[in-house]
Amino acid sequence: MSFIIEDFGKLNGTEQVKRITLSSDAFECSFITYGACIQSIKVPSKDGLIDIALGFDTLEGYVQQDKYMGATVGRFANRISGAAFSLNGKEYLLAPNEGRNTLHGGLFGFDKKNWAIEDADVNSVTFFYISPDGEEGFPGSLSVRVRYTVDGNRLTVSYSADSDQDTVVNIINHSYLNLSSGGTVCDHFVRIDSDLYLPTDKESIPIAAAPVAGTPMDLRQVTILSERLDSSFDQIKKARGYDHCFILNPSDFSASKITCYSDASGVIMKLFTDAPAVQFYTGNFLDGCPAGKGGAVYSDRSGLCFETGSCPDSPNRPEFPSALLKAGERFTQSTVFEFGLLPDTGK
Ligand code: GAL
Repeated sequence: MSFIIEDFGKLNGTEQVKRITLSSDAFECSFITYGACIQSIKVPSKDGLIDIALGFDTLEGYVQQDKYMGATVGRFANRISGAAFSLNGKEYLLAPNEGRNTLHGGLFGFDKKNWAIEDADVNSVTFFYISPDGEEGFPGSLSVRVRYTVDGNRLTVSYSADSDQDTVVNIINHSYLNLSSGGTVCDHFVRIDSDLYLPTDKESIPIAAAPVAGTPMDLRQVTILSERLDSSFDQIKKARGYDHCFILNPSDFSASKITCYSDASGVIMKLFTDAPAVQFYTGNFLDGCPAGKGGAVYSDRSGLCFETGSCPDSPNRPEFPSALLKAGERFTQSTVFEFGLLPDTGK
């Protein structure tokens, strides 16, 4: 196990951004304070260690891009319709940043903040940020922590948040992963333990939960994405792939909710989470991203995201799992990414 902390450029020429690299015997991850991002995840493949996280070699790359690459997204990830919601009889007006709706926390969300390092040791680092009362229109001063732990073959991402007023919280990680470390994710196999998903309207706002059964949204059995991504199913066509919230079937934390693997690299990843849902996004609009690590060109479908968290627009949707955080109570949520090698490629 080892721990390295180094400079990763200066934000606006003044604020120091740090990179922390943690490694176990099995794999290595780097994180940066800007956006509390996951900058790299290097895991064993059948051809040795490969980096399965899309991202940039420099701070400029992170500042210039608008895809939320690797970032911690909040205070409320995904969309809030009409850039407004009511809480305790009061209407809160947010900053609209996607048409008339609010996406990923607003104009200057958690992904654009330079987080403090609260604590770090050989296998974990905790990033800390205080989101002031009224930031982007949200009520309450919110103290947020993101803890990354690298242990054995597992990366654990744990969130906690405390507010001094009732507020809404949906914090997710927006890493784009490519388990072959190159090419598109069309050859990836995916399983999501979900009976219900949220179809969306033309503004990507959820309509009403619908069964996955009998549709290409059914990922309950391992499925190769190429069979589905160009489907004529209206929801997939409109989004140019998957960009949908799946309600995760309730089960014990020890049962994996999501599996993803690449035959090309032999890398298999399992996700364990206590989040109620996942936004599954197949990088449908990655084109136009600045050059990535080692000059990589990220085109559409170069990476996929499993954004474990709450449902989009839940502050306006009492029928969805609640994203309310009451004053004085603590929000916590964890997701574990477990990495391995497919049996037939195992060494
Ligand atoms: C995803 C979202 C997509 C898109 C993307 C960022 O979380 O579901 O619709 O906004 O982030 O480019």
